Amino acid sequence: MSDKTSKRKDDHIRITKEEDVESSQPGFKDVVLEHEALPEIDKKEIDSSCEIFGSKLRAPILIDSITGGSERGKKINRILASAAEKCGIGIGVGSQRAALEDESLVETYSVVREKAPSAFVYGNIGAAQLKEYNTEDLERAVEMIEADAMAVHLNFTQESIQPEGDIDARGCLSAIERAAEELSVPVIAKETGCGISQKTAQKLKEAGVDAINVAGKGGTSWPYIESYRAKAVGERRKGRMGELFRDWGIPTAASVAMAAKEHDFVISSGGVRSGIDVAKSIVLGAECSAAAAPFLKAALEGKGKVVEAVEDMIEGLETAMFVTGSKNLEDLSETRVKVTGKTRSYVKRCRC
Ligand SMILES: Cc1cc2nc3c(=O)[nH]c(=O)nc-3n(C[C@H](O)[C@H](O)[C@H](O)COP(=O)(O)O)c2cc1C
Repeated sequence: MSDKTSKRKDDHIRITKEEDVESSQPGFKDVVLEHEALPEIDKKEIDSSCEIFGSKLRAPILIDSITGGSERGKKINRILASAAEKCGIGIGVGSQRAALEDESLVETYSVVREKAPSAFVYGNIGAAQLKEYNTEDLERAVEMIEADAMAVHLNFTQESIQPEGDIDARGCLSAIERAAEELSVPVIAKETGCGISQKTAQKLKEAGVDAINVAGKGGTSWPYIESYRAKAVGERRKGRMGELFRDWGIPTAASVAMAAKEHDFVISSGGVRSGIDVAKSIVLGAECSAAAAPFLKAALEGKGKVVEAVEDMIEGLETAMFVTGSKNLEDLSETRVKVTGKTRSYVKRCRC
């Protein structure tokens, strides 16, 4: 991989750490779960475990796709993977394009499987790059980390702002369809912070993807991260566009509810910041939740901080389960819910 790509990846990590790069409102504030004052269950018996494509998780939580492809990325992946293994949750790696193009970078990703031998681990490749790769290339990405699934990311808002962005979005759907048909592991179609509409979810379902990670608006804003990079290299218009599109997209809560109308395996991501957000996601129709920036920031302070962040999220989820009278995730998914505000207008036709 060129030094340029490695620097870009490190820039993303640095900007996420140093700047406030979140977009506004994932919509979870519009979602109110009905409190149960008489839960009639023993909190100690609550079971928040779930199964994802044959892997058992202690709780429905994933460390979403973040990094790989640089020395710093390897160090972060080592920390995140050890924490995922210890906590019994799943973990994704960042785009594996770098290692597909430069063998010497394989270990910046494979360290994840090494440190998380029993976790649900998923790979990552961009839809724009998917067009250039054949199934053998993709299988190399699977083998690299002994992946249990492969995420294909959609990030055209980011690509538009990124100084070196790939802005030819033609042919992605058929490339995804081919991957879903030919790859040896399940394929997850994934946004990166702008959400998936109901119409797109329907297209992805028809293309045969096994899951949809909505990665909606309300968490990390990629256009805004790229605006910092664009301004640093004097691309002032792109810098302004990144600011303009900071809040672009479908809020996560609404995107989950819409995608769940089309697909039975939806992952909520984008501004998921607590166990209550995870609980609300499950009630809106998600199978599990994922988060990136909070775990990345914790990893920069060490494994202990990641474990603490994950355990806080699990405790928050299980407390929400207790006070909604839910012994397990199936019970939780049946919880009565009130949806208000903008989220309500998005999800008018769902069961909420
Ligand atoms: C530093 C950083 C790098 C990321 N790299 C990737 C990537 O390579 N592939 C991908 O699909 N998503 C990537 N993401 C997006 C996340 O997986 C996630 O979809 C998004 O950040 C929303 O989650 P959050 O609000 O919890 O951060 C990255 C996120 C961060 C913060």
